Amino acid sequence: MTATTDHLFLRACRRQPVERTPVWMMRQAGRYLPSYREVRSRSSFLEMCRTPALACEVTLQPIDQLGFDAAILFSDILITLPAMGLEVAFPEAGPKIQAPVRTAAGIDALVVPDPEQEVGYVMEAVRQIRRALQNRVPLIGFAGAPFTMATYAVEGGGSKDYPHTKALLFGDPASAHRLLDKLARTCAVYLEAQVAAGAQAVQIFDSWAGILSPRDFREYALRHTKTVISMLRASPTFRDGGVPIIYFVNGCAPYLADYADSGADVLGVDWRIDIGTVRRGVGDKVALQGNLDPGVLYASPEEIRARVFEVLRQAGPVGHIFNLGHGVTPATNPEHVRAMVAAVHEYRHDGK
Ligand code: CP3
Repeated sequence: MTATTDHLFLRACRRQPVERTPVWMMRQAGRYLPSYREVRSRSSFLEMCRTPALACEVTLQPIDQLGFDAAILFSDILITLPAMGLEVAFPEAGPKIQAPVRTAAGIDALVVPDPEQEVGYVMEAVRQIRRALQNRVPLIGFAGAPFTMATYAVEGGGSKDYPHTKALLFGDPASAHRLLDKLARTCAVYLEAQVAAGAQAVQIFDSWAGILSPRDFREYALRHTKTVISMLRASPTFRDGGVPIIYFVNGCAPYLADYADSGADVLGVDWRIDIGTVRRGVGDKVALQGNLDPGVLYASPEEIRARVFEVLRQAGPVGHIFNLGHGVTPATNPEHVRAMVAAVHEYRHDGK
């Protein structure tokens, strides 16, 4: 086995034996690291995403400073939208799509981009990060799931009730599915390009799928994520099974049986359900990732350690990647993240 396929994180994704549970976390709403804020003070967020050297620098910061067992590419799920025909801005208040798409004609005008041509800087960042990591830990690429991308494209930003999205789903399902299908094909070719450039696992973020009823989760979210996963499985880059696919639904509790059926190797678990309950609900064919409440990091290092141990005990020794139930919040003390990582690295499943 080569060093590349032998990483702790990749073995846990495949439910192979591991000496200890691997840990990493997403810092998307991040900005908790002073070194990130320092780079960010000199460039806009979009400039950072579009400049491979900067993306590389901030991708490595948590690896060098906190000792995670996997790195996640610095970018954003919305980075492909301009290439499809939707301009995006990142003001302080959160991302904004200039002219959201709400009509059949608008949906038909969107294109499935060629990733190397349109967002080649992401693949260049992947190549630079792989060189800089020198195989210390594997690199995770990512994209937004079709449904979550659709909520941004249609709503124009974050939302509480998702009125425009729901009006489209329930008022014009045929157009909604055409939009979701374009987003699924975009997601698949984009993840394929990241893997061809060197990403060793991919995560599909369905951050807002939890706003759907179980039947609509199946129809509008899961169905199109399954398209992405089957396109990936059919591609030569993924065919040998060496690149794990992680699917994360924020708010997965109501959908466990369907969630288990997504075709992903790993399912992300948010903190609103016990990970032991998820294991019993989805069976033993998939690995699980999660699921500490990010808010636990506001507690003392002792409390953090106890809560980390609880998650590890529930998840069991096989097929678990320790993670937060969602991204780390900006006000988190980096020392508390260090306490979390130390606790995961300390824990052993032999009952001691
Ligand atoms: O861990 C990492 O830093 C990996 C890179 C990453 C970012 N965004 C960087 C980012 C990843 C994996 C994402 C994914 C992403 N982006 C998701 C899915 C994950 C999730 O949170 O459920 C979503 C929904 C987005 C859209 C997005 N981008 C939002 C909602 C925001 C604003 C967050 C906030 O609290 O204001 C962003 C901006 C963003 N993406 C930042 C970072 C580091 C902050 C930008 C800044 O420095 O100003």
